[in-house]
Amino acid sequence: MYYCSLLCSTEFDDRCFCKNSISYSMGSWPEDVGILALEFVVPPRYVDQSELEQYDGVSTGKYTIGLGQSKMGFCTDCEDINSLCLTAVSRLVERNGLNYEDIGRLEVGTETIIDKSKSVKTVLMQLFKESKNFDVEGIDTTNACYGGTSALFNAISWMESSSWDGRYAIVVAGDIAIYSEGSARPTGGAGAVAMLLGPNAPLVFERGLRATYMQHAYDFYKPNLMSEYPVVDGKLSIKCYLSALDNCYQLYCKKSMKINNNTDDIGLNSFNGMLFHSPYCKLVQKSLARLVLNDFTRTPKDKISLLYTGLERFSGCKLEETYFDRDIEKGFMDFSKNIFNEKTSRSLYIAREVGNMYTPSLYGGLISYLIETPFDILSGQRVGLFSYGSGLASSMFSLKIKENGLKKLINNLSHIKKTLNERTKVSPDDFCKIMKIREENHFKAPYKPQGSNHGLQPGTWYLYEIDEQHRRLYKKVIDT
Ligand code: ACO
Repeated sequence: MYYCSLLCSTEFDDRCFCKNSISYSMGSWPEDVGILALEFVVPPRYVDQSELEQYDGVSTGKYTIGLGQSKMGFCTDCEDINSLCLTAVSRLVERNGLNYEDIGRLEVGTETIIDKSKSVKTVLMQLFKESKNFDVEGIDTTNACYGGTSALFNAISWMESSSWDGRYAIVVAGDIAIYSEGSARPTGGAGAVAMLLGPNAPLVFERGLRATYMQHAYDFYKPNLMSEYPVVDGKLSIKCYLSALDNCYQLYCKKSMKINNNTDDIGLNSFNGMLFHSPYCKLVQKSLARLVLNDFTRTPKDKISLLYTGLERFSGCKLEETYFDRDIEKGFMDFSKNIFNEKTSRSLYIAREVGNMYTPSLYGGLISYLIETPFDILSGQRVGLFSYGSGLASSMFSLKIKENGLKKLINNLSHIKKTLNERTKVSPDDFCKIMKIREENHFKAPYKPQGSNHGLQPGTWYLYEIDEQHRRLYKKVIDT
């Protein structure tokens, strides 16, 4: 027996055909829970990384080759975390012809805090007002770049629980990633990704197959609540990231073998695509090489020269002693070049163009992979995802790509390259002035943003003013 998801109390022998509803069978988990649609929001301004190299007086190639970054998106003071998420959610709903009453859960993952008590989620409830749907579970989740993943796991759990009422869930991950002047500044970025979740999805999360690694570390944190800038120990953060990756991958492989009840070793070969949280693109290439190193350390000695020709001298190395071993890093980077091009490189399109967006970074990687991979080879693929948030929280999980609804999902992403190409380039000098304005006015009230909303596309929300009681008023750019 099926029940209408819009709670009209109707029982059906077969599928319910109420508009926009999801029919579901009581007493069983919905099939193929996953991502039905994706929306990506990026600020309309960027700074060119090679111009930033010159401006900062570092050697040519440090940001573009050394970090692998091409452009960095940033926000003026008329955009904040609420406006980015308002735009992401409203566009997702509009582009997919949804009604706000069809949403039963809305989760936000962010580390961009502008109020210590009031969540971004409650700000987003303004969008639901007209529909009179106030029955929307979910709230904000925070831990550096990991909050979006935790929000996603929460939404999946809701949909696979007795609390699910048959409606969709939306997860929005958004952040404004900015650093004080210095070596970390070129690894900033900004953006938001909203995901529509439901059953019978084209991007299906594999059940029972997640590996998590959490630890206490002070690699990156934001103890100064009056500043948007983090305190960051760059080298420690890289070590923490790579160590979390090792731990998640080893555990994922172990769990996968157990679930699949097989004795064959699982490794990178089991994935068509492998996606990572991207602080900067070079670290992602190193991470893919790191997974090859992980597979290598689990390979029986007698198979090494056959499978890893040229790397035999590293046999017996201990993972925890290799984080900054240049010889091993270079050996495995060279060896894994083709694997990187096949499984990961395409996922870095947005990361290269925008920078580290923090919580949406991994999901920007997913969008990039989907728009950069030829459509006819996507269906049937299995993709691994690694999420990392400093402090530290990390998970590895995977999804399968199915044909059902895939075309619609990808068609709705077709505007992204045009949007990125049409952004306005800002000189490094003006970029620094805008950062200064943000720095000096963070938490100021009353405040009227000095940055122009010029360049924001129709349908984009922006911060109009902050009143003397710190209440923020948002407006939407109207179609001309
Ligand atoms: N041409 C080509 N490559 C160059 C050049 C050049 N002219 N100059 C330097 N490089 C290379 C370096 O050799 C180095 O390569 P490597 O990573 O293979 O060693 C790379 O460019 C970066 O140079 P470094 O001197 O190591 O850079 P620096 O120490 O100044 O800063 C860092 C890099 C630590 C990543 C800094 O930007 C930072 O702190 N960022 C924020 C923290 C971060 O993103 N951590 C990652 C995980 S946590 C998270 O997601 C926030």
